[in-house]
Amino acid sequence: MEEVLAFHNVSKSYGIAGGATLHALRDVSVSIAAGRTVSLIGRSGSGKSTFLHLAAGIDAPSSGAVRLLGRDLARLSDRERTLSRRRDVGLVFQFFHLLPHLSVEENVLVPALIAGGSGAGDRARAAELLDRVGLAGRARDPVSQLSGGEMQRVAIARALLRRPRLLLADEPTGNLDEENGQRVMDLLLRLGREEGSALLYVTHSRELAALADARWRLHGGVLEPA
Ligand SMILES: Nc1ncnc2c1ncn2[C@@H]1O[C@H](COP(=O)(O)OP(=O)(O)O)[C@@H](O)[C@H]1O
Ligand SMILES: [Mg+2]
Repeated sequence: MEEVLAFHNVSKSYGIAGGATLHALRDVSVSIAAGRTVSLIGRSGSGKSTFLHLAAGIDAPSSGAVRLLGRDLARLSDRERTLSRRRDVGLVFQFFHLLPHLSVEENVLVPALIAGGSGAGDRARAAELLDRVGLAGRARDPVSQLSGGEMQRVAIARALLRRPRLLLADEPTGNLDEENGQRVMDLLLRLGREEGSALLYVTHSRELAALADARWRLHGGVLEPA
C-alpha cells in the first residue's frame, strides 16, 4: 500500500539551560499508509506535538529521516518544503487558529488565498465542505460568532480545502466538551475516509483513540503501539 508518511530512526533533541539535552523523540520508525487513520496518545511532554511538527516539515529531526509522499523532507529546499506542506498536509489545532475578523467562508478559503488566490473552483469546494460539516447556513457569518465546536468544524473544512493526502490534528477536541468533541472527531474520521486522506490525531481520550485504524503511544519520546 502506498505510504503517505514515514519516520526512519527519527530523533529530536533540544539543547536546554545548563548545557543539558532534552530528548523529545527517540529513534522513532513508523509509517502511515494512504487513507489510514492513526491515533496518538501520551502524557503532556511526551513528544506528540514534536512528532506532528516533524511530520508537517515545520521542524526538522536531529537525526533520521522524515518522508512525506516518498520525499525526504530534509532534501527539499525551504520553498519546496513549504509548498509541499501547503499542498499535501492539512492541519487542525486545539485552539482552531481561525482568523476572527473573517467570515466562515473566507476562513475556509485561506489556504487557496495563500496559494495565490481563490477561484470559482475553490469557492465551490468551500461551499461543498461547509455543507458537509453542517455549516452551509453560516458561510457569511463572522467566524467569531460561532461556538467552539462550530469553529473546529470550520477548521476541518479549511484543512480539507486543497484535498491533502495527510491530515494532522493536534488535540482537535482538547478545547471542546465531550459531546462536541465526539462530534468533531466523528466528522474528522468520516471526512478523512471519504476524501482518502490519511489522518493522524492526538487525543487524551481512550474512547476517541480507539476509533482509529491504528493506535500509537508516546512515552518519553519513545513511540510504541498503544
Ligand atoms: N523548542 C523547544 N525547545 C526546548 N524544548 C522543547 C521545545 N519544544 C518542545 N520541547 C520539549 O520537548 C518535549 C516534548 O514536547 P511536545 O512535543 O510539545 O510534547 P506534547 O505535545 O506531548 O505535550 C517537552 O519536554 C518539551 O518541553
Ligand atoms: Mg502537544
